Amino acid sequence: MAKILAIESSCDETAASVIDNGVLLSNIVSTQIDVHRKYGGVMPEIASRLHAENISIVIKEAMEEAKTSFEELDAIAVTRGPGLIGALHVGLQAAKTISMLYNIPLIPVHHLAGHIYANEYVSEFKFPMLAVVVSGGNTELVLMKDHMEFEIIAETVDDAIGECYDKVARVLGLPYPGGIPIDKLAKEGKHTYDLPTPLKGVKTLNLSYSGLKTNVINLVHNLEQKGEKVNVADMCKSFQDVAVGLVIDRTIKAVKEYKVNQVILAGGVSANSYLREEMTKEMNKLNVEIKIPPMWCCTDNAAMIAKVATRLYDLKVFAPLDLGVDPNWKIDEWNKF
Ligand code: KG4
Repeated sequence: MAKILAIESSCDETAASVIDNGVLLSNIVSTQIDVHRKYGGVMPEIASRLHAENISIVIKEAMEEAKTSFEELDAIAVTRGPGLIGALHVGLQAAKTISMLYNIPLIPVHHLAGHIYANEYVSEFKFPMLAVVVSGGNTELVLMKDHMEFEIIAETVDDAIGECYDKVARVLGLPYPGGIPIDKLAKEGKHTYDLPTPLKGVKTLNLSYSGLKTNVINLVHNLEQKGEKVNVADMCKSFQDVAVGLVIDRTIKAVKEYKVNQVILAGGVSANSYLREEMTKEMNKLNVEIKIPPMWCCTDNAAMIAKVATRLYDLKVFAPLDLGVDPNWKIDEWNKF
């Protein structure tokens, strides 16, 4: 156990957090959403520049809120991947500088391990456990038989679910990030549009979101060409039923196949109200414990990175100063860098 400063900058949130013996002392998040909203999605170059502008201030605030000086830190942790390459570099360079200046170990943390371990702020893990990781950049089912043992048993063969939400929102004229307005409007809509289930009839645990996205885009364009008005709330409901339905279907199959004791949700899309409700209902039917992260740690933050870093400190997982980022880092290779 140790006092650690953790940094997260993999996408459009610049974040820093201080943890002391597992107790969270600060959690500062500076989001860039308002800037990227103008473009309907994250612009990687702008994200990197904003991280560079904000990172020192965010770190300073996290240290001040934690009433901690740099000399008191035992280690510095940082998200090394996956994520946007330029954005990751900003966090890593800041972390390396602190590591060098204060002669403390540098801990590289996997972003999705962070999303999974965010759940540890609210409950203990019970193994074997299935982590359902649903975010803007990733969609995978990860089997964990013990702490820091990750086996990817299913993943998307193309787009991530969050990316699909964002693209569908854009074609419907809804603001970025699209998951939030779709979730809200779906509550007012009816499932009236027929959208095919992805990978139907294929014997696989994998998921797919590219076809669903194209189906919605084509349907909207066809209706517009015919001069028909798209009922946005109904489209949101029809889309969401299929998008979330696929995650639920794969989770049920995986739970049965791998006989898991607990299911946890992780990642930005785990904020989705329909997913939270349906998953709870289905897991209750199967008598499997379901854990859902509190809203404050569904989206990107450094508290989740700090949680993993505490474990890595005890395992002495430290990186040399020539460490590079890995935008495609696989979770089952979290200790290879
Ligand atoms: O985990 P996250 O903050 O970023 C990545 O690391 O990818 O996830 C962001 C994604 C976005 O695609 C956003 O549209 C989606 O999470 N999201 C939601 C909801 N809130 C955020 N998707 C569905 N329903 C929501 N309520």
